[in-house]
This record gives sequence, C-alpha cells and structure tokens, in this order.
Amino acid sequence: MTAMKIPLLDLKAEYAALRDEILPTLDRVCQNSAFIEGPEVQAFEKEFADFCGTAYCVAVSSGTAALHLGLLAMGVQSGDEVITTPNTFLATAEAISYCGARPVFVDIDPATANLDPKLLERSVTPRTRAILPVHLYGRPADMDPIREIAARHKLQILEDAAQAHAARYRHQRVGSLGRAAAFSFYPSKNLGAYGEGGALTTSDEAVAKFARAARSHGQTARYDHEFVGYNYRMDGFQGAILRIKLRRLHSWTERRRQIAREYRRLLEPAKLSIPVDDPQDECVYHQFVIYVKNRPAVIAQLAERGVETSVHYPKPVHLQPAYSSLGYPEGTFPHAERACERVLSIPLFPSMTTEQIEYVASAVLEVVGRK
Ligand SMILES: Cc1ncc(COP(=O)(O)O)c(C=O)c1O
Repeated sequence: MTAMKIPLLDLKAEYAALRDEILPTLDRVCQNSAFIEGPEVQAFEKEFADFCGTAYCVAVSSGTAALHLGLLAMGVQSGDEVITTPNTFLATAEAISYCGARPVFVDIDPATANLDPKLLERSVTPRTRAILPVHLYGRPADMDPIREIAARHKLQILEDAAQAHAARYRHQRVGSLGRAAAFSFYPSKNLGAYGEGGALTTSDEAVAKFARAARSHGQTARYDHEFVGYNYRMDGFQGAILRIKLRRLHSWTERRRQIAREYRRLLEPAKLSIPVDDPQDECVYHQFVIYVKNRPAVIAQLAERGVETSVHYPKPVHLQPAYSSLGYPEGTFPHAERACERVLSIPLFPSMTTEQIEYVASAVLEVVGRK
C-alpha cells in the first residue's frame, strides 16, 4: 500500500469547502461592527436552542465558561460537592472549583468510558449539590439512572456536552437532558468556532436569565449591574461561523457515525478493544478511541505509517497535580486509570475518504496484530 499522511482531523479541508460562504459573512460582521454578541450571535442562540430542543441557549466565550455559569445558576457554592467523572478534560473539574465547591469523582464504566451510575449513589453526601456527567467522545452518559438518583436526592444535573453536539440519548438530544448543559465550540469540536466559544442550553427560564446577565458583568440592562458577573461574551465572528457550520452538523454527524461503523467492521479482527455503543443512543464520535497495550510503541509505529493519533486523556483528573490537594491516591478509580493508560484516538473527521479509512484501519491492524 502506498504511504499516506492522515491527520487526526482536517480543519483546512473543511475551511476550503466553506470559504466562499464564510468570507462574505465575516465581512458582514465587520461592516456592521458587530464584534461582540450582536445579530449573528443572537440568531445562533435561537438556532442552536431549536437544534437541541431547549427553550433557551446562552452563547458564551468558552465551554469552560458555560460549565461555570451552569453550576452558578444551580446555586453551587463554597462548601458544596459536585459529582463528576475523573475521565474528562480538566475544565469539567475546574468549573466546580471556580464556584468554591469540591469535585467528587466516581469511577467510569469501562465499557463506555463514562461515569458509572451504579457507583454514583454511594458518593452522595449531605453536601452534594449537583451531578456533572460528561458525554465523553460524543457518547451519551447513561442519563436515566443518573436522573433517578438526582431526583431521589434532590440534586441538579448539568451535562458536560462539550464533545457531544447532536448526540441523542433514548431519542432525546444531548443538551436537553438535565437542568442545563454546557457545550464547547473549541475549533476541533464537532461544531467548532474559529476561536473560543461555548453555550449553555436550558429550558429553565431562571437559569437562562441568570446566565445572560452573568456572562456580561451581571448586567440586566445596559449599565444596570445586578450582581458581580464575568466577561464571558461570545464574539460576533464566532456566532457567524457557528451558524454556517450548524447547517452542516446533521450531515457531518451522519458521516462521523458511518466512519465509526466502518472502523468497527474493519477493526473486528484487531487485538484491541473499543468502547461500546448503546443501540438506543446515538454517539457522535467526537473521537474514535481504541484501547491498546504498549501505547507508546503503537503511536510511534502508526506515525511511521503517516497516521496521526492523540491521547484523550493520558491522566485522569484525580491524578493531575492540579487536584493533588483532593488527596485521591493512585488506584482510587482503577477503571479510569486503566482507560487513561491504554486509550488512543485515531483519525476521524467528516471529509475522510473511504481510502483514508481503510488505510488507517489496515495500519492499526498491522501494528496491534490480530486477535
Ligand atoms: C469534556 C470537556 N469539557 C469541557 C471542555 C472545555 O471547553 P472549552 O475548551 O471550550 O473551554 C472541553 C473542551 O476542551 C471538554 O472536552
């Protein structure tokens, strides 16, 4: 087989396809001098709320800001505990810390890489205020048992949907499964801006009202500052880009799911494992991850064959120096720790060709061997 070079994702190809639409739209933002929020952001909020099936969407400056405002809107404060997964990007836990609360981790279900609801209830204490499940890699967390436990203990749920735009849990869109949900539009996300961006979706008017004021210095009207807020506003450019891309999200998601099915078929004989999809849900494959032994060698050998890979994530949050003060020793969450030792993301992006998919799969098979 001739050597190919396959990136983990290809934003340059995506831009080439959208350039003729993007440039005049950005020009319009400049002509209107609508650099901060403005009509493009407002229109995007409406379109994204409709897409998620929620009454409101509040656009903000990043996914981290959306998580922070979501927790604050739920009243999370100093002395509270928020339960989440250690198998996530640091921002999930950081947002809890920003509120002065303590992240309490629960191990993952090794089959799905998401928070294991069976282990959740034993971590609930009188200080628990909220649960923050993450739909990791675009695979919805198992929300029904999480919602049952939340209802039993009067806890609120904020979804971390940063990696899961368009995913469905039991036919219902991610973003509408808790009291609120936080999305990231970091450029590499399934719906990515051309800079930083995020959004909070909710059908709760009080949450939306709080987030709208909090993202702009606590203002309820111009220079009416009801409380001390933040500068978490979205740029006009980002709203414009996101509107263009949102129109493609259905077809891009379908293509991601098709590629994932193809990878699963081609990698069937390979000596590796892949997280399990619940057939009742729709995973949107933000990352296609495999679990391998001897990961450094696999990465090097795939790189030699021109296949770019990445690791999401090499260390669970409880073992990061940033959270050493929580005092979780190694071995506390064995499934998350094992996943982080073995996980490897392989290329998956909507414009991948059949030839590229087959090339990556055969390179992986060659490197990891057959079962
Ligand atoms: C699971 C998860 N949560 C939160 C974030 C934070 O989003 P942002 O980078 O937009 O602040 C990210 C993305 O980086 C993420 O992957």
